Amino acid sequence: MFTNMLKAWLVLIYIFCVYCCVGRGKKFKVDVKRTKVYGPGLQPDKVVYPVRYFFIELYDTKGNRIQKSVGNSFKVQVEGETTQGAYCRVWTQVLDRYDGSYIVRYRTYQTCRNTNIHVLYNHQPVAESPYKISGPIYAEDCYCPVGDITSWQELAGCPASYSQIDHDLRNFHEVDFELVLKEATKRFNQAGSRSFCNYVVKDNKLYRSCFGQHVGFNIFMDNILQSMLRKMVLPDIEFIINLGDWPLVDPKVKPLLPIFSWCGSEDTADIVMPTYDITEATLEMMGRVTLDLLSVQSNNDIPWSRKKANAFWRGRDSRRERLDLITLARENKHLMNASLTHFFFFKDEEEKYGPKEKHISFFKFFDYKYQINIDGTVAAYRFPYLLGGSSVVLKQDSPYYEFFYPDLEPYVHYIPFKRDLSDLIEKIEWARSNDEKARVIGQNGRQYVQENLMAKDIYCYHAALFKEWSKRLRSEVVVRKGMEFIPTRENEKRFGDCKCHRLNRHDEL
Ligand SMILES: *[C@@H]1O[C@H](CO)[C@@H](O)[C@H](O)[C@H]1NC(C)=O
Repeated sequence: MFTNMLKAWLVLIYIFCVYCCVGRGKKFKVDVKRTKVYGPGLQPDKVVYPVRYFFIELYDTKGNRIQKSVGNSFKVQVEGETTQGAYCRVWTQVLDRYDGSYIVRYRTYQTCRNTNIHVLYNHQPVAESPYKISGPIYAEDCYCPVGDITSWQELAGCPASYSQIDHDLRNFHEVDFELVLKEATKRFNQAGSRSFCNYVVKDNKLYRSCFGQHVGFNIFMDNILQSMLRKMVLPDIEFIINLGDWPLVDPKVKPLLPIFSWCGSEDTADIVMPTYDITEATLEMMGRVTLDLLSVQSNNDIPWSRKKANAFWRGRDSRRERLDLITLARENKHLMNASLTHFFFFKDEEEKYGPKEKHISFFKFFDYKYQINIDGTVAAYRFPYLLGGSSVVLKQDSPYYEFFYPDLEPYVHYIPFKRDLSDLIEKIEWARSNDEKARVIGQNGRQYVQENLMAKDIYCYHAALFKEWSKRLRSEVVVRKGMEFIPTRENEKRFGDCKCHRLNRHDEL
């Protein structure tokens, strides 16, 4: 009896302390009205993305930004009805960035109507919550174009142009695709040496034919094109996509060929587009992939002050400098933790540079302050994920680039080091003795990712590229002989659930 009462008292005192003592110890109080909630996920009826997302930024009663996590105090509920009036199935996640900001994302699996988005902080509505969504929220796999590419770009709030696209298309003004295709087949298809596909979009339908031995990667191009066709009416276009790692176009060989590639380089003239990696992560977010540009900003993160002040690297042996990095790490154990996880290109040197280490979760990389980005066969496609994480990136100088690299500045978004790694140790030491500067560079990199590499941006870039390209095609776009029709899939079980209000289903059927 007595011990039970004592226990009860202890529990009460404990609860009192947690709620009052700790609460009072905090130097800030979250102001739910001043706290900012923004992002495309608050207007899900306007533009469809595979996963909808928005951001929460904490402010205190004086209007100052709070830069600390407040734990799991936020709750977000997306409540809507299906076409049949049942509860609409939505998967919601609130991701803590541990810096006083949160990412909210949700995926819908049905068309949701009369939807309210509730954003709650300890049960109190935040900012303008609840957000009432008037129009239907279509799931990603509904076919429901909003109009032509320009109207979609306006709805999404896309930039009007990209300097990289202007640069890549500068040599192509009046393209006769008949000639392009003939020349490309001659140049790249000798004995199936290169793998590439010729795509045609005609009347918002997709067709392709592929050449070469390794054409499996065309699935990535199919996926993004199908996703775009469901959202907007694309102009009739025709293009060639290079499915290989290396850019293909030699600028000295005439006629210059317009080839779309996932990676560009200083001595080639390919037209770059977002990599299959970043595009697929966008399409399959909260689905097949776990590493994406939103999850990398949160997953089990630790604050800067608790990260180890060491450089970290894991990867496969796809370039000589990666082996050199292992040597350097062995000579500088106090600065660097680097290992190879896979031997393929330099199998005969496994003894020297091994043993290979087990793969570790990418999210664990961010236990370390300094992330090393070193080219693989071409640009390392992990770079955007490293930038989006909470560490700072040290990037190898490189002739290779992805579509967004020209926006980035050394010592603003990342710390550069020489291609031969000769100043890498010096740069790590610089970061260690300039901790605050390094932290800010890391933060800028992450900010850049949030503002430029989200789902919206991946779609905007593709849209701008296809639109600009369509203006330059002079030949009539026709479905070529032998092309395969790639249907724009809509989940058949759910057929009828979409009921796209912009289409007359009778006409379509
Ligand atoms: C290197 O990193 C791995 C993964 O975090 C860790 O298990 C290992 O102990 C580290 N090695 C050293 C020498 O610190």
